[in-house]
Formats: sequence, structure tokens, C-alpha cells
Amino acid sequence: MSSSQISSVTDIKQNPYKPFLATVEQIIEETWDTKTFRAVFHDEELREKFTYEPGQFQEVSVFGAGEATFCLTSTPTRPGGIEFSVKRVGSLTDALHEISEGAVVGIRGPFGNWFPYKEWVSSSSSGHPTPNTQHPTPGKDLLFIGGGIGMAPLRSLLNFCLDNRGDYGKIDVIYGARTSGDLCYKTEFDAWRANSNLYLTIDKEEQGWEHNVGFVPSYLNDLAPKPANTIAITCGPPIMIKFVLQNLATLGFVDEQIYTTLEMKMKCGVGKCGRCNIGHKFVCLDGPVFSYAEIKGLPPEF
Ligand SMILES: Cc1cc2nc3c(=O)[nH]c(=O)nc-3n(C[C@H](O)[C@H](O)[C@H](O)COP(=O)(O)OP(=O)(O)OC[C@H]3O[C@@H](n4cnc5c(N)ncnc54)[C@H](O)[C@@H]3O)c2cc1C
Ligand code: FES
Repeated sequence: MSSSQISSVTDIKQNPYKPFLATVEQIIEETWDTKTFRAVFHDEELREKFTYEPGQFQEVSVFGAGEATFCLTSTPTRPGGIEFSVKRVGSLTDALHEISEGAVVGIRGPFGNWFPYKEWVSSSSSGHPTPNTQHPTPGKDLLFIGGGIGMAPLRSLLNFCLDNRGDYGKIDVIYGARTSGDLCYKTEFDAWRANSNLYLTIDKEEQGWEHNVGFVPSYLNDLAPKPANTIAITCGPPIMIKFVLQNLATLGFVDEQIYTTLEMKMKCGVGKCGRCNIGHKFVCLDGPVFSYAEIKGLPPEF
């Protein structure tokens, strides 16, 4: 088989350094500094068969500007294109914010691990009944806690679970940002509300705001979700995560019930360049998804 005959799906797995071309079909302005991009692969086979898991990331390149890491914020349950949300913080993210619909970008991936959602489904729907079929294990209740652009990796998992709604118990989403204008994915809130409880909060009072006012960790305390049979998944600014973790512990959640995603600076995405390691763990290979129990096992300098 000549190289031109290699399946593009095989090629993207075997050659992780090769960016595959994709056209940006849609750009959604989420906030003043964050945009969501929907990209569609040029290669027909990739368009149909490219798949990934909630929590994985990709490397996106803008020609002449460079490459950066973004989580896949879309869900594999809605194939045809991939989505990533980009907060403008520096050179590559500036370049991405400057492109228009129709622009071509490069995509490498998917990389990294993912949320262990298969462990959270009810045994009756997983196809793996427990030995005592009289008492199937119920699906876990899921508690999403997001702040700002931290909702990007959570959105992939949330939409994935909503598309497989029967597999899980109650789904609660606590999402906050500094102001209402800083909340991403506003056009999806009604769809989320249809099958989950969405709790929104902003830092300070605003005219016309009908939801909670206060920081995400305090709102978590007020709502006081029960830890029994619940998995908490959180992502947001480090200061938010710090207090969310403290408050979850006070509410009775143990470390194994809590998951987050880490963002170290990355380059290769495949465990070769040594940019992203924390002790013996490579965030690009062993992560970016970690349970809080795993994070506590990382070296103290982290
Ligand atoms: C697994 C993973 C998933 C990510 N997902 C997203 C996402 O969904 N959306 C999103 O907007 N961003 C995401 N990021 C962060 C994103 O990769 C950086 O914002 C981006 O690389 C910045 O590139 P730049 O060239 O614009 O910034 P630069 O010009 O390189 O840097 C600008 C500033 O940002 C800091 N910075 C750059 N990269 C990081 C980083 N990884 N962590 C902390 N600070 C950084 C720099 O130190 C500098 O202060 C993710 C990162 C990782 C590792
Ligand atoms: S990004 Fe290169 S080793 Fe992780």
C-alpha cells in the first residue's frame, strides 16, 4: 500500500505530529474574549470516522502563527465536526480570534485520557449486570461545577451524558462567571435545563439577573448536594477549584468522587517533549483528566 493509500483514520493515529486540515465552518462569539469554533475535516473518511472521548484534547494550528492545546468541547455523540472554545490570552489564541469562517486550520489529536464515564452508568443500561440482577447498580448522580472557560471540557461530558440520559441519575450543573457576559454556551442553557438542573451564578449583582449572585464555591455550599452515589466534575480558574475542593470535602465528598482536568503548558501532546510532566506523570498522556485522589499523589511542588 503506498502512503497515499493509507487510511486517514489510521494515519492520524500513527502519525501524531501531522496536522490534518479542517475548515472552520462556524465561529460563535461566546464572550468578549472567548469564541467557539466548529471545524470540519477536509478528508471525507476523517469527517465520518474521526472520534474521541469527552475530556480529550487536540493541538490546533494556525498557519504561520503556531499551534496550541484546546480541549474538544463537542461530544462524540454528535459527529460531523469538532468544536473547541478559545480564550484570547496570547499569540496563537490572538491568531485564532482573527480568523473568519471558511479559514483552514490544522488539527492533531485526539490526545490524552478522558472522563471514566463508563464506570458511572447504571448496570442495567451498561449491558454488564451485577451478579445480583435483582439489584442493579443505579447510574451515578453527576454534579458539574464549572467556572468561565472551564466549562469547555465539562460541556463535552455534559452533552455526552445528556445524549445518553438513561445511563445516569440526577444531573446538576453549577456554572458561574464574573459577569453574565462572561458565561459561555448561553444558547445551550435551555437544552441543558430540559434534562438537568442548571444553577447559574455571577460574582456581583447585575440589573435583570434572575439567578444566584456569589462565587461558585459559596453557591456550592448553599446548594449542598448530597455525596451519596454522586460524582463531582469540576474545572475553572485555580482559585475556584481550590475552594470547590475544600467545600466538596466539607459536604462529605471523598477524593475518589471528584474529577478535574489539568492544564499544563504543552507542546507535543504525546509524551515526547517533556513540557508537561509533574513528577513521573505526563499531563498529556496520564491526563488531562485526574481524580482528586490522583492529584493528591502528585509531587508537592505542583
Ligand atoms: C489539556 C489542555 C486543554 C486546554 N483547553 C483549553 C480550552 O479548551 N480553551 C482555551 O482557551 N484554552 C485551553 N487551554 C490553554 C491553551 O492551551 C492556552 O491558553 C494557549 O496555549 C495559549 O496560547 P497562546 O499562544 O495564545 O498564548 P502564549 O502567547 O503562549 O501565552 C500567553 C499567556 O498564557 C500563558 N499560558 C499559555 N499556555 C498556558 C497553559 N496551558 N496554562 C496556563 N497558562 C498558559 C502564558 O504563560 C502567557 O502568560 C488548554 C491547555 C491544556 C494543556
Ligand atoms: S506535551 Fe510533550 S510530553 Fe506532554
